[in-house]
Amino acid sequence: MSSTLSNPKKTELNGQELSDLESVSQAQVGGLGQWFLRDMWYFAVASKKLKPGKMMPKTMLGEPVLLGRDSEGKAFALRDICPHQAVPLSDGVFDGKTVQCPFHGWKFDTAGSCQEIPSLCSDQSFPVCKIKTASYPVREVRGGVWVYFGENTADLPEVPEAPGLGDMLYEQATTTLMLPIHIDYAALALIDPAHVPYIHNSWWWRSAKTLREKTKHYVPEGNGWTAVKHQPNAHSIVYKLFGKYIEDEYSFRLPGCRREYLTFAGRTFIAGISCLTPIDETHTELNHTTYWTFPGTGFIEPIVQYFVTVFLGQDQSVAIKQEACLKHKPKLIPTIKDAGTPGAWYLRLKKEWADSRREKRAFKNPVPDSILRWRS
Ligand code: FES
Ligand SMILES: [Fe+2]
Repeated sequence: MSSTLSNPKKTELNGQELSDLESVSQAQVGGLGQWFLRDMWYFAVASKKLKPGKMMPKTMLGEPVLLGRDSEGKAFALRDICPHQAVPLSDGVFDGKTVQCPFHGWKFDTAGSCQEIPSLCSDQSFPVCKIKTASYPVREVRGGVWVYFGENTADLPEVPEAPGLGDMLYEQATTTLMLPIHIDYAALALIDPAHVPYIHNSWWWRSAKTLREKTKHYVPEGNGWTAVKHQPNAHSIVYKLFGKYIEDEYSFRLPGCRREYLTFAGRTFIAGISCLTPIDETHTELNHTTYWTFPGTGFIEPIVQYFVTVFLGQDQSVAIKQEACLKHKPKLIPTIKDAGTPGAWYLRLKKEWADSRREKRAFKNPVPDSILRWRS
């Protein structure tokens, strides 16, 4: 895919807007919709979907990955290609300790080292354990399995978990949807406030009839930004019902995680994290995990799933329409202020992360402390 940012010299904008466009020029962002960020954790699957003694194949960042959980409960991830004659290991058998390739029966442990080659006779010595399929670092955080993609495994970044939960007890539910677009377009939509009144217009949320001016304070944090705690706008019935004791804080972290939590009288009652995982150049998986802090209310999961699926399905329906248009490789202007500013920050953060890793230096968060204003 080779869609590009609009050439600023050809746009009919005033000088101020022109400089905004130039500040995220094609050269600076290194190409919208063209590459994946590496040296980064990506959400793979909800923990409870990966049962002990089971494995599952998954394409992530265009790579075939075997996700599994051993019989002792430890999650692992291997390159899903047998190094002998290139058959998917996930088509074989997993006994809870080793994965056996379906072609010639070679066995690999969960770190990817070969343990057995059945065709060897007892007097034929061979350094079996020197044969390996690559393994990926894996971490489980708050009910999600994350896989690290990168060559630099010495200094791993933090896994971007849901905020505001501390050591509270909670219930959780993960909703998964496929978006037929590159992660860059999905990320721009995830942090774009301007689409909300037009796309998320269910009767129980809000409509586009009453656009209001919003002002929010953003600060750089981690490898992203945080919109500091504020009272939510009373657009939606949901917020109107809960009253004025509610506060909201949302944030973004690379590679494509929007995080949010709401407090009532200072206590977090709901939190969530939406994670974008590139499947390939033109498909991105969206996993949203909702956490609610009323232990023993796991039975409301179908209700949570219903509302989240409707909400994210609205984003998915736009992504399907975008897919049809992006095939024509149009020039785009994704960064008009101020509603588009978080999108511009995403592109800069991504570029800076890649640059800092390549240049072997500390990441320098390029997001300025800002007050953003828009109508939505
Ligand atoms: S291809 Fe896997 S054992 Fe031969
Ligand atoms: Fe949305």
